[in-house]
Amino acid sequence: RRVTVLMGGVSAEREVSLRSGAAAAEALRQAGFAVTTIDAGREPAKLITDIAATRPDVVFNALHGRFGEDGCVQGVLDLMGVPYTHSGLLASAAAMDKAFARNLFAQAGIPVAEGRVVRKGEVHGDPMARPYVVKPLNEGSSVGVYILRDGDNRDPLKDWPFEASQVLVEAFIPGRELTVAVMGDRALGALEITSARGFYDYDAKYAPGGSRHIMPAPIPEEDYADACALALKAHLVLGCRGVSRTDLRYDDTHPHEAPKLYVLEVNTQPGMTATSLVPEIAAHVGISFPELVRWMVENAAC
Ligand code: DAL
Ligand code: MG
Repeated sequence: RRVTVLMGGVSAEREVSLRSGAAAAEALRQAGFAVTTIDAGREPAKLITDIAATRPDVVFNALHGRFGEDGCVQGVLDLMGVPYTHSGLLASAAAMDKAFARNLFAQAGIPVAEGRVVRKGEVHGDPMARPYVVKPLNEGSSVGVYILRDGDNRDPLKDWPFEASQVLVEAFIPGRELTVAVMGDRALGALEITSARGFYDYDAKYAPGGSRHIMPAPIPEEDYADACALALKAHLVLGCRGVSRTDLRYDDTHPHEAPKLYVLEVNTQPGMTATSLVPEIAAHVGISFPELVRWMVENAAC
């Protein structure tokens, strides 16, 4: 079977996607597929003809961020009638818009941090009590995410890399960082991330030694099960397909006050390098990287 891997793209996560795509292509070859790769950033307007020229049975989408994770490429592949991995157009768009996704989670009873969308200018007047987090509405890999703590007097938006006029502000949840991989209708497990600098930002994510992954997350069994259940619920509420990864905060500082777990977001195009979180969680439950990508191709749809 012929698989075309889409990678690169034009988003702020282009470099991450090139790494995801290269790793996925390698694993797909090991799994026995005939693989072609396309850098979707070279000539986005020619993407349809470029994809068609590779005559794929399935497209493996290794893009992250704008156009690759937000429903745009998914819509192109729907038009072409080519099955693709991961979520479809609507779920991708819903998950990528952090404010939209938060509302769906809250309606479904999934705990989210207190937060709202504000004009960028409002951040200068502290739109909510510190500490809080400023986030772009639709980017990934923590690009443009800042935590504002008491006494912090830098301007978080001074060198902000995006043009959007609005941002999401969210109460900072103390405690620990968890992430849960979902594969189809199954949560595979919860991993804890600790970062040297206390914030799992872009450098902590991608620089060697920037963070530690602890699999399985060393938390009580009941909380572990709750984290997995919340991630699966978030995946289903958004209508996701295939593989996704949900990031959560685990507040163990107030053990008797509910809730302990908060969903931050669902990543519909999680990182797929050999050392990324989803392949690591899958490996822990006995699913190798080539087996994981094979499953994704076999479950592709459009
Ligand atoms: N946005 C990055 C790629 C992730 O969620 O893994
Ligand atoms: Mg993300």
